Amino acid sequence: MRQPLVAGNWKMNGSLDSIRSLVEGIKAGLDSVTTAELAACPPYVYIPQVAAMLEGSSIALGAQDVNDRESGAHTGEVAPGMLTDIGCKYAIVGHSERRSIYGESDEFTARKFAAARQAGLTPILCVGELLEEREQGITEQVVSRQLDAIIDLEGVGALADAVIAYEPVWAIGTGKTATPAQAQDVHAYIRGVIAREDAAVAEKVQILYGGSVKGSNAAELFAMADIDGGLIGGASLDANEFLSIGRAGNA
Ligand code: 13P
Repeated sequence: MRQPLVAGNWKMNGSLDSIRSLVEGIKAGLDSVTTAELAACPPYVYIPQVAAMLEGSSIALGAQDVNDRESGAHTGEVAPGMLTDIGCKYAIVGHSERRSIYGESDEFTARKFAAARQAGLTPILCVGELLEEREQGITEQVVSRQLDAIIDLEGVGALADAVIAYEPVWAIGTGKTATPAQAQDVHAYIRGVIAREDAAVAEKVQILYGGSVKGSNAAELFAMADIDGGLIGGASLDANEFLSIGRAGNA
């Protein structure tokens, strides 16, 4: 049985004050989340503040991105070892906003994934199709191309220490959630692609759904056989909403 993971991707939102009350709110209701692991991925600059607040709690810490190098002359970038140094467990790689707004390729994403693992982070690899790709019926090709970049560089075994997040780009921040059946189809496809190479890895890897998940739709999504939790954007900025998504994973 895979433990559900509910991770909040706060994106470029928050301030010292708003983040303090968000974390306090989540901690206050944490007992009601009995099964899922919760994780918070704040903007880089607030990670130390959140790390201090989460000390001794079961909520894991993650970053929203990571560089593919260990150190050096890369102005503005953050190395994976810096993230483990300040207490991160997870790093999101290949979010669609990185791919589409900042032009990051499948290959660059794969190098970030490799660097994150090398530093002891668990990468949360985002994959997903654009609306026009879904309309063209090429969702599976897109997702398998994104996965293959990782498998080609690192081997399928690398996915055993990783999390995958299927985030259809048309569902991100749009209020338009994939139906549980639509999401389950792609999740099962992803697990199948991995299973063709290694059944044990496919069985182990958590595949999260992301895209307009809320307290009101999380339970039906998480009830699907291959959906192992969620990567939550907007709704993770509200403690009660985030906790309610966490409770949707209760056994
Ligand atoms: P929303 O939950 O705001 O749609 O964002 C999803 C997402 O991009 C999480 O990484």
